[in-house]
Parts: sequence; C-alpha cells; structure tokens
Amino acid sequence: MLEGSSVIGGRNGKAGDDNDLNRDVRVDGRRLLDRLEELAGIGPIDGGGSCRLALTDDDRLGRDLLVTWMKDLGLTVTIDVVGNITGTWEVGAGAPVMTGSHIDTVRTGGRYDGNLGVLAGLEVIESLMAAGVRPRRPIAVTVFSNEEGARFQPDMLGSLVYVGGLGVEQALSTLAIDGPSYGDELGRIGYAGTVPCPGPAPHAFVELHIEQGPVLEREGFRFGAVTGVQGISWQEVTIEGQSNHAGTTPMSMRRDPALVAARLTVFLRELAERMGGDQVCTVGRIEVVPNLINVVPRSATLTLDVRNTDEKLLKAAEAEIDGFIEQIAADENVTISRRQLARFEPVEFDPRVVDSVERAITGRGHSVRRLPSGAGHDAQMLARVCPTAMIFTPSHLGISHNPAEHTDDADLVEGTQLLLDVMLDLLDTEFTPSSAESPTRSLT
Ligand code: GLV
Ligand code: MN
Ligand code: MN
Repeated sequence: MLEGSSVIGGRNGKAGDDNDLNRDVRVDGRRLLDRLEELAGIGPIDGGGSCRLALTDDDRLGRDLLVTWMKDLGLTVTIDVVGNITGTWEVGAGAPVMTGSHIDTVRTGGRYDGNLGVLAGLEVIESLMAAGVRPRRPIAVTVFSNEEGARFQPDMLGSLVYVGGLGVEQALSTLAIDGPSYGDELGRIGYAGTVPCPGPAPHAFVELHIEQGPVLEREGFRFGAVTGVQGISWQEVTIEGQSNHAGTTPMSMRRDPALVAARLTVFLRELAERMGGDQVCTVGRIEVVPNLINVVPRSATLTLDVRNTDEKLLKAAEAEIDGFIEQIAADENVTISRRQLARFEPVEFDPRVVDSVERAITGRGHSVRRLPSGAGHDAQMLARVCPTAMIFTPSHLGISHNPAEHTDDADLVEGTQLLLDVMLDLLDTEFTPSSAESPTRSLT
C-alpha cells in the first residue's frame, strides 16, 4: 500500500494492489550496469575485479562515490560511528524498509560481491522516484562497513555493530592485519560518523547478492530465495617452534612450525571430507617466519575458516580441530596459541520474507530455488532485529572472491527488478513479532 501520485501496491493480492501498475515500475538496467562499472573502476585489479579492502584509500573513494549518488537522489545521508553509510528516502512514516550490502572487497575481489546489493538498492529508489511513487514508509539503502573481514576481523563488523552484536569501542579498537586500528583508519578516511550504534531496527530488510557458489547455475535457476546463512567459525592459529639451520639439524631434533601448519591444513581437508554434507574448511592465510629456504622456521601463523549450516555439526568440527591441535602440539613439541576471530551461529531467515522473495521470483515467471547461503552477509546480522531474507543471482561456475566473478547482465538487472518487487511487498506488509527477531547468534 503506497500513497501519492501513483498508488502502487504489492504483488500478492492485498487490498489496494494493482499488479499491472506494479509491473510498470521497471528498473533502469543501463543505469545499474553503468554504476557497477564505475564503482569497479575504483581499485581496479587485473582480470576486471577490484581491490577495496575496508577503510583503505580506495574504500574511501568508493564511499565518496556512493555518497555523491545518494545525495544526487536527494536522500538523507547519515554516517554512523563505525562508518556505515545510510541513504534514506524520507517519505511516509515509520521504520524504513531497508536494503543494502557492502562495497569493501577482498584483495582479489570481483565486481559484484556486495556492490550489486548496494547499487541495486539505489536503483530501486531511483526507479520508484522516477515513476512518481510515494511509499508509505521510508526506504533506506545502507553501505555496511567491513563486511568482508579480510582486513579487520570479524567479518560483517559494520552490520554486527549496527544491530548491537558488538560494542562500538571493541569495534574501533580492532586491529587490521596490516597494523592500524579500525577507529584510526575510519578517521583517516573521513568516515568516523556521529550517528550512534546500535541503529534503529528497520521495518524489514532484504539484500540482493550474487550466490558466489555453483548451485543456481548448475541446476538451471536464475534466482534463489535464500533461506539462511551457514554458521562461521574463524580462528587464527600461531605455532612456535625452534628456528634452526636446515642443513645441520637432524630431523629427530626439529620443532618445525611449517610442518605443523601443513599437517593442520591437511587435517582440515580430511575432516571436511569425512563429515561431508555442508561442512567446509579452509586455510586461507599462512605466514611462516622467517620464510627462508634454508631455515627451519621459528613460527607459523595460519587462519582456519570452518563453516556448516548445522550448529551441532559446526561445534563437532571445532571440537575435532581442538583435539588435533592439542595432540600435534605435544607430538611435535611446539607451542600453539589461538585467537577466535569470528563465530556466528547459522541463521534462518524470516519465512515471511523468504516467501515474499519466492513470490517475486515466480511472479515474474521464473522458477525458484530455495537455498542457504555459504557466504556470510550483512543480512544475517539484520535478521537479529527485523524480518529479513535475501535474493540470489547466479555466479558463473560458482567463482567469487576472484576477479573472474561473473553474473550475466540480464540476471543483475532482473535481480534488481525482483528487489524492487520485494521491497514494495515489504512496504505493504505488517509484521507481527516472530522468533526470527530474537538474538540467537553471538560472537564469542
Ligand atoms: C564473506 O564474503 C565471507 O563469507 O567470507
Ligand atoms: Mn558479499
Ligand atoms: Mn565477499
């Protein structure tokens, strides 16, 4: 139910609906694609992707571009204390229907991860404005800070603080992998805002994102209704042994951190294969000191990324890793210390919003695949405070966190159209409290 010069309702048979009119609000695909191209040009890397690690100079340039676009649209732009940027179309009354995602990337980022969700949100607002629609509620698009967690852990830090899952001071004192604190870097790039966190709960939240996995393409679907996000356990493991001469130190006398790092890496692979199902394990970063050909290393530091859709299984995987680390430390006579970098339980999205996504997809004549997300997303944090779900578009060959990340233009544009449809539906929906809004996830 919307009011104003054009009254455009949801697609689901509610009072005031006008499905034909609704269909007439088309997003401008060219504008969306041009913006994606322009944003990808900030921090460009070989292969057509982008590197905009959180709170770097290139992240600042990307933010500046988004703020310019938001202001050009007449949105009210606010920046909160951890740097989340929200552009709000101040229209109607009550809590906004919010969308958004992130524009920070991993070092080897593609051009769609996160960027699509932000720019699609902007496109939805601009299309509705251009069509003369006046929504009953405000509509907001948010650029969440440091979603990737590649430079500052935990990942999804901005949205986590937004929903009150992590204190502001703790967030600001988080150290980057290259040294400086989150707070110092935020100030340096000019995005230490004043709007307090936690932020207000939106009426509902929906995020458009590329799948980043192979399921939709492999099974021949163009769009997915995302049912939730798998649990994530991140830790950093530091192994200390005895640095020594590679030629003179007998094998029996070695206390070799590189060997232990390698065995731990193999253990994770075997664990995931043994557990099967959704279990995935990754060692993405290994640093050996002093990293020289003829020196038994002094230390090795590696990161473990362990995920499962089932919390019990995720806990079981963590317990096995604990046991292995204890055993190998004793066997190889090394000291092992560990730091938990992120721990999020699996999240289930609100079935009412998942249903809305599904209706939007089928309403435009597409078949729909329900699926959980393997990647972490800001939506999983917003799910703590309001009805939330996501829309997926396919990723060619399931490749992501790689400049080769690719989604067809037609899917990007139609996905944005679906986002518009879902947001109209959410504007129309009065939610009663549901269990989906209770905080069941924690950072430990
Ligand atoms: C974020 O992209 C993650 O899932 O690691
Ligand atoms: Mn992302
Ligand atoms: Mn990502």
